[in-house]
Amino acid sequence: TQATSRSFVILGGTGDLTGRLLLPGLTELVDAGVLADGVDVLAVSQEDWTDDEYRAWARERLAEHAGHVPEASRDRIVARLGYRHGDVTLAADLRAALARVAGAPVVYLALPNTVFLPTLEALAEVGLPEGAVVAVEKPFGRNLADARRLNAVLHRLLPEESVFRTDHFLGMQTVLNILGLRFANRVFEPLWNATHIERVDIVFDETLGLEGRAGYYDTAGALKDMLQNHLLQMLAVVAMEPPAAVDARSLAARKADVLRAVRAPEDMRRDTVRGRYIAGTVQGRPLPAYATEDGVEPDRGTETYAEYTVGIDNWRWAGVPFRLRSGKALGADRHEIVLRFKPVPHMAFGGGAPEPDVLRLRLDPDGIALEINLNGAGDPFDVERRSLDIALPPTRLSAYGLLLKELLDGNAALSISDVEAEESWRIVEPILAAWAADEVPLQEYPAGSDGPTSHL
Ligand code: BG6
Repeated sequence: TQATSRSFVILGGTGDLTGRLLLPGLTELVDAGVLADGVDVLAVSQEDWTDDEYRAWARERLAEHAGHVPEASRDRIVARLGYRHGDVTLAADLRAALARVAGAPVVYLALPNTVFLPTLEALAEVGLPEGAVVAVEKPFGRNLADARRLNAVLHRLLPEESVFRTDHFLGMQTVLNILGLRFANRVFEPLWNATHIERVDIVFDETLGLEGRAGYYDTAGALKDMLQNHLLQMLAVVAMEPPAAVDARSLAARKADVLRAVRAPEDMRRDTVRGRYIAGTVQGRPLPAYATEDGVEPDRGTETYAEYTVGIDNWRWAGVPFRLRSGKALGADRHEIVLRFKPVPHMAFGGGAPEPDVLRLRLDPDGIALEINLNGAGDPFDVERRSLDIALPPTRLSAYGLLLKELLDGNAALSISDVEAEESWRIVEPILAAWAADEVPLQEYPAGSDGPTSHL
């Protein structure tokens, strides 16, 4: 790999995301030799700090969140960090900050989405050198109208190929492997359709609770935090038509096609579930009720569990339900995409109908399992359940590390495109509206339980 020499500007450089994910990701790149020496990393934020004060903050964050990278690499990134105090929504402050970095930088908006628009407007006023790249964190706006406004300003600022709407799930090994599994093999793709598949479940259950993120999470909730972006991107990769090439243009076009064909839920009580955890014990650890956590506004009714079922109106998928769910403070971590096949047309063996074949794509730890029926060691004329199971070794770069590398290379293949971002809002907006109007009850579930009554 060629080392990149682009400079990196983080707007919101003292925030949780920067300390938890961006700086650790950049450290991995230093460690892997991807980041050339002499690249500037400039953080901009409101705190009135010096470079040295910022470096001290960064050193602590890295000790906490980048323990997997040798200390020498952490020191090397810290030594390159610069800091500039400023208001990211003011053109004058941005101009002064950008004057400190060389060449065409990556500008990363590690900010609350409420300030994306004024920040991008200020950036558009300043302008960026040709070849610059802008990355915007999720959720991309607060609704469809907002996403459209953000896209309009971004397009004034840069060509679409230079815009990176971050979704770190696209950097996860198993999500990338769906491309390999489907499009580098002969055996799966012929079965990958409504003729053979009964339903698809996309599940991201977490044992983690709020983790002190009320400031962000309480105005987002599970639907906007996970199901508007990460889970829909997984749906897009699982359900899209074959791309001509694994590059930004083909992937964006094929993912956009399939998202356009997703039919938003119509019967909200039947097709959606919302829940919020109350006090309980998660794997032996007591957790207070979400509503009592610091910074949570209980009356806002923010959900910590969201689920919905959609159909895809196209030739390949007509009639196959796709069920997406994610929740916090659940009893077990379950991160997987499950494709359930239809039963065999005729069962020649005794012992009743066999279980249908299941393909399970597990995330973190990554793996792929094909659960099938075989003649086992028991009754020779009966079948038993067996699993072809591959555990995938961990990758050198984390999902964020990989995304940052692609970003520095100016490759938007692992980004959400403008159309995809808007289509994703189109799909979830009716759900948000129905939930805001209390058309679907907010079910309470104890922390550590299986969650609310689910349709899965
Ligand atoms: C983030 C969400 O985007 O993804 C978090 O904001 C969630 O709420 C996280 O916990 C899950 O991803 P990972 O990589 O931490 O498993």
